[in-house]
Amino acid sequence: MSAPRGQFSSKLGFILAAAGSAVGLGNIWGFPTQTASNGGGAFVVVYFVLAFMLAYPALMAELIIGRHARANVVTALGSISSSRFTRLAGTAVGYYGVVIASLILSFYTIVAGWMLAHLIEPLTTALGLSNISAWLTQNSVARNLATAATFALITMWIIARGIENGIEKWSTRLMPMLFAILLLLIIYVMTRPGAMEGLAVYLVPDWSRVTDPGLIIDALGQAFFSLSLGVGTMLVYGSYLSKRENLPGIGVIVTLVDTGIAFIAGLLIIPSIYVAKHYGTTIFTETGELIAGPDLIFQVLPTLFSSMGEIGLVAAFAFFTLMSIAAVTSSISMLEVPVSTAVEQTGLSRPRITYVIGTVIFAISALLIFNFPALFVFVIDLTTKYSEPLLGVAFCLFAGWVLHRDKLLAELKQGSPEVESGIFWKVWPLYVRVVCPVLILVTFFHSVGA
Ligand code: TRP
Repeated sequence: MSAPRGQFSSKLGFILAAAGSAVGLGNIWGFPTQTASNGGGAFVVVYFVLAFMLAYPALMAELIIGRHARANVVTALGSISSSRFTRLAGTAVGYYGVVIASLILSFYTIVAGWMLAHLIEPLTTALGLSNISAWLTQNSVARNLATAATFALITMWIIARGIENGIEKWSTRLMPMLFAILLLLIIYVMTRPGAMEGLAVYLVPDWSRVTDPGLIIDALGQAFFSLSLGVGTMLVYGSYLSKRENLPGIGVIVTLVDTGIAFIAGLLIIPSIYVAKHYGTTIFTETGELIAGPDLIFQVLPTLFSSMGEIGLVAAFAFFTLMSIAAVTSSISMLEVPVSTAVEQTGLSRPRITYVIGTVIFAISALLIFNFPALFVFVIDLTTKYSEPLLGVAFCLFAGWVLHRDKLLAELKQGSPEVESGIFWKVWPLYVRVVCPVLILVTFFHSVGA
């Protein structure tokens, strides 16, 4: 009982949608702050190596399974299996992915709500509505519920419209805007006093930290989260991609755009911190580390913006527009995981299912908001630290061992007929069967033990 499936209308549409999923708060907030707390340039180097060595092969595993099966994550993992055991295991992994994707969306919605609040605040301040501005920028249950609900509704509205009219249309509109705002902000920040000091901290690697296990684990987690891996997001996007397209090439482009934007975002955030320092803001914690977590985005940068006078309002508006755009093109890709599964398994209409599932996930967000200290960090760790890498291993094993070598090759040959003689086919199959799972597991257990 399958409803008619959507498809991306063009290669560019797919690339912008997949890059939109990948480029999110993880790039613009997560990557620069992890860099700041992990010794600057050394983290950047390790991150790039891991992104291409481990995350790219895992991305390919998801894209290939998805395009081959042309189905949601649960059906896809079940249908490529030939034995009863792997079919059961595949279905279980698929459902686990659906649950984890939904939980990631539940906390992402809260953080994205904060971005919306700070996006509206410069407008209310410009209009002289200082009470509303204060309400928007001060943490409260009511503010968090209202802004998270607004963001959840935007996400549902786009997903209800389907692949071409929802995901593709909005990614194609928003991603160029994101890029333009990012560049304009960088140009502006670079002209401010203090920026060059920050640039040096960002770009000059402290090589002594490169072998630090904590740094390597943070970089691996960051790479998986940033490429949206492990929960079937890329699998389901791949399932909407035309058979004409060359998968390994598209995967390289998506990885390059994602890591490239993370790198460029660092050129904005780290120098901004040092500009703030120049204007007298405290940017170090008591232990001498750079302030990294929420305080960076919601304290250091706003102090910087307000010290800039009128232009600060424009800069704040532009910055939080950038963050909100990055968040929407990612959150839609998370919601698509449970929605595609439910639509294809029940045959009910997409809009109705979208609003039902979206509301259930928002209820989980509300639960997190009401029990913030107990649950928020717990859910983030459960999903991103503990579940995503293990699910990533499962996807690699399914692509490498369950999807037969002949089928893999046949799938790749559609869209890239010469693939058999190229480097990808020489390296990737063994890589995804053995090297990737072993390296991910070693890093994972190292981090859990550490
Ligand atoms: N990659 C996005 C970011 O960097 C977040 C994201 C979107 C994601 N879809 C995902 C993370 C699926 C994990 C799984 O912010």
